[in-house]
Amino acid sequence: MARINHHFLKLASGYLFPEIARRVRAFEQDNPTLAPRVIRCGIGDVTEPLPDAAIKALHAGVDDLAKRETFKGYGPPTGYAFVREAIAQGDFATRGVTIDPDEIFLSDGSKPDANGFLSMLGEGNVIAVSDPVYPVYVDTNVMAGNTGEAGHGLNSVRYDDLVYLETGPSNGFVAAPPHHRVDVAYLCFPNNPTGAVATRAQLEAWVRYAHDNDTLLLFDAAYEAFIQDPSIPHSIYEIDGAKDVAVEFRSFSKVGGFTGVRAGYTVVPTTVTGLTPEGLRQPFHPLWHRRWATCSNGVSWPVQRAVAALYSDEGRAQTGELVRFYIENARLLRAAVKSIGLNVFGGENAPYVWAQCPQGLSSWDAFDLLLREAQVVITPGAGFGRCGEGYFRISAFNSRANVVEVGHRLSALTAMRSV
Ligand SMILES: Cc1ncc(COP(=O)(O)O)c(C=O)c1O
Repeated sequence: MARINHHFLKLASGYLFPEIARRVRAFEQDNPTLAPRVIRCGIGDVTEPLPDAAIKALHAGVDDLAKRETFKGYGPPTGYAFVREAIAQGDFATRGVTIDPDEIFLSDGSKPDANGFLSMLGEGNVIAVSDPVYPVYVDTNVMAGNTGEAGHGLNSVRYDDLVYLETGPSNGFVAAPPHHRVDVAYLCFPNNPTGAVATRAQLEAWVRYAHDNDTLLLFDAAYEAFIQDPSIPHSIYEIDGAKDVAVEFRSFSKVGGFTGVRAGYTVVPTTVTGLTPEGLRQPFHPLWHRRWATCSNGVSWPVQRAVAALYSDEGRAQTGELVRFYIENARLLRAAVKSIGLNVFGGENAPYVWAQCPQGLSSWDAFDLLLREAQVVITPGAGFGRCGEGYFRISAFNSRANVVEVGHRLSALTAMRSV
């Protein structure tokens, strides 16, 4: 009989979003007259159509496939050179960072990349994540066998052998490097779920730590396009020395509205190394290349054309507009949360607003209360880790009409004020 990967059995409970969907479904079934009023600000999925430049490129890419002269079959597994060159220029050279197009690996998104990268890590790595954390980092490490069992009681949202770096208002939801060494550390800025951003000095401390401790940094910059403050780095490679220690994940899901199209990329500099069992240094780059060539045939031609179109003048103007739209949503949501007297974080350089629950209300209580009293779906902070308890996340990915309506409903929410 086929033996299963027993690490999957360690996964503590269902992924956060199915549980939210279950509760919303139950509410809608029990309250059919209120069901049409439900506004979803829970999952971080975009709502606005793709930039016109991307739509045109997708159409043109499909037309290419209809003619023998322009037909495209299998492409290079890591993406066509013209796409990777556009990325190297548009995302890095413009910020004074030199990334070789061959260090860019085009993919179907950064969630699969964050997962796939684990296949190159050996056993026994000490891995650090922030708490609260994007749950994918934790669950993929559980599946890969990089953690122990799920804890019990107070530890029920934690896994043995994983290092949790606690964040909260006192450190601005930005973890400092730990005092002991870890082999791998995940950094996500702008952060999901808290919307926090790391300053240059904070990122410099991490790069210094990585050099001193031989730590691999996995830097997730899925939300970099939302950074408004010009002093905040968009890429870890804006920090001197980062090209020796960091891999960076990027996504077109939010900046280009590609959550359903699927595209992202990972930067693996040729200078980032790990240790072989014999203790020799081995660059990850050829391994990641080999993995792509063996395990994937890359991203579809129309999607690659659409990615390149995002870097055209027209595409840049349109993605800029899209980002400004969601950032304005975040501003409105921040104001609404403040209006009911709650502490609010994030939402200024990120599409997520992170609100503190009123004293005495757990994050799932806040979820149930907001659903019951206002028919607004948020994401309970506890779903992102123990330190997320007492907070909830509101996503700014929504139509303006919905955001304005959520603002009205929150402002009128006496139940939340009086807890
Ligand atoms: C921090 C972070 N990284 C990666 C992703 C996934 O990106 P993609 O759609 O490219 O797989 C998300 C999506 O919500 C995210 O929040």
